Amino acid sequence: MAGPRVDRHLFVVFGATGDLLRRKLLPALYEVAGSLAGPGVPFQILGVARQALSDEAYRQICTEALVAAGAAPRAAARRWVAARVRYCSLGAGAPADFARLANRIEEVEKAAGLAGHRVFYLALPAEAIPSVVAGLGGAGLARSAGWSRLVVEKPFGTDLASAERLNRELHRFFDERSIYRIDHYLGKETVQNLLVFRFANMLFESVWNRDRISHVEITVAEALGVEERATYYDQSGALRDMVQSHLTQLLTLTAMEVPARLEADAVRNEKVKVLASVEPIRPDDVVRGQYAAGRAGRSRLRAYRNEPGIRRGSTTETFVALRLRLNNWRWQGVPFFLRTGKRLPEKRTEIVVHFRRPPVWFFPGPSVADVVANRLTITLQPDEGFEIAFELKRPGHAITLETHRLHFLYSEAFGPLADAYQTLLVDLMRGDPTLFVRADEVEAAWAVYAAVLARPPPLRAYPAGTWGPPEAERLAEELGHHWSDG
Ligand code: BG6
Repeated sequence: MAGPRVDRHLFVVFGATGDLLRRKLLPALYEVAGSLAGPGVPFQILGVARQALSDEAYRQICTEALVAAGAAPRAAARRWVAARVRYCSLGAGAPADFARLANRIEEVEKAAGLAGHRVFYLALPAEAIPSVVAGLGGAGLARSAGWSRLVVEKPFGTDLASAERLNRELHRFFDERSIYRIDHYLGKETVQNLLVFRFANMLFESVWNRDRISHVEITVAEALGVEERATYYDQSGALRDMVQSHLTQLLTLTAMEVPARLEADAVRNEKVKVLASVEPIRPDDVVRGQYAAGRAGRSRLRAYRNEPGIRRGSTTETFVALRLRLNNWRWQGVPFFLRTGKRLPEKRTEIVVHFRRPPVWFFPGPSVADVVANRLTITLQPDEGFEIAFELKRPGHAITLETHRLHFLYSEAFGPLADAYQTLLVDLMRGDPTLFVRADEVEAAWAVYAAVLARPPPLRAYPAGTWGPPEAERLAEELGHHWSDG
């Protein structure tokens, strides 16, 4: 089947020697290039970073990255890179450096016969973004004969005020329609499927409300610690790194109303409305934790404060659990429990929708309070799919109830799925911003957590390899619920 067709363009990537480019972006670009329809090479790549490198030296870096990521054997990687990759040093990033970059861009476009369609992908630390955007604008690069699209990776600011400031700086040179803020969770197949699942199936949408649902859990658990990103993570923490972005995206897609059309702004308007309906978070709605030393199987895990690169007395949280209330017609009275952490027992991302119990119970055995209510689990990791837990009668003379499950796994039905970055890159190249985060959306997401960021509750320790501090259980228990695991 022919893949999507895109305008032939120049893909300019800042942070061209960085980790994100080597591990994620380049392998995804390699896959995407092979899936696009149309003759010839659909995009040329111009890597931009501070250091001085020849095209040849940079091509070598890219070839190695593709081989290391398992994207292609060496010979194929080398050929692919030779056909489309070039490099331009940005030096100190002075106006003259951006002017030189502008010349180089024109030169490459001329040589490759491109019409001036450009992507500027900023795979950069947050603090470098404003000056690069100003440099692009100052050199006249925000406009061209074709389209110009600016891609910004998370984090989009560190709180509401900094996100507003960043948006203002981006808008000085780029209009909102050409800004693509990436949250890679939106490229995951199951996340996109939430819309289809909900709005193409009467079966689910008709019970998706306060009358039938008792509470919703959203868990993004990671077994890994901070790995190589200590400096970034220690300034950020779980609330900024995960909750404001990925978990909030899962929340909005789970809770939103049906959009008028399947169009970027129609979908994003509904997501913003969910955020606007979140009631102010109270201090006792939040539990912050940090992992202490612990174990995973036989191996010992060191405490967060003893990880390389982490400040000794750091009070950065590696775990957050919170409960949110949505003050709208659909969800009034239904708590949403959100939880994420590093060094938890396993990598697991899921949305668990708990339905209410039947209003009366006439079967033998447990009372209605002990009945296992229906549960729909939408899993994003480790396997993308969903599962419905329901009660049935065990065969035999007695009426004995047992919980069983129906499940669907994407991998069983369709084989391996594309990486989220591939999906997002194709949408970017096609100019479809539905799966990217709009300026007001990012600000509304920060506004939800403003009070917690301003007055963080006390930090609780949890042993690495466990499900977080015991206080997290209290959040659910106080409302008569439990998290779906140990
Ligand atoms: C990133 C966070 O955005 O998402 C990381 O910065 C986190 O800290 C990662 O590990 C998780 O992504 P995924 O797709 O592996 O769940």
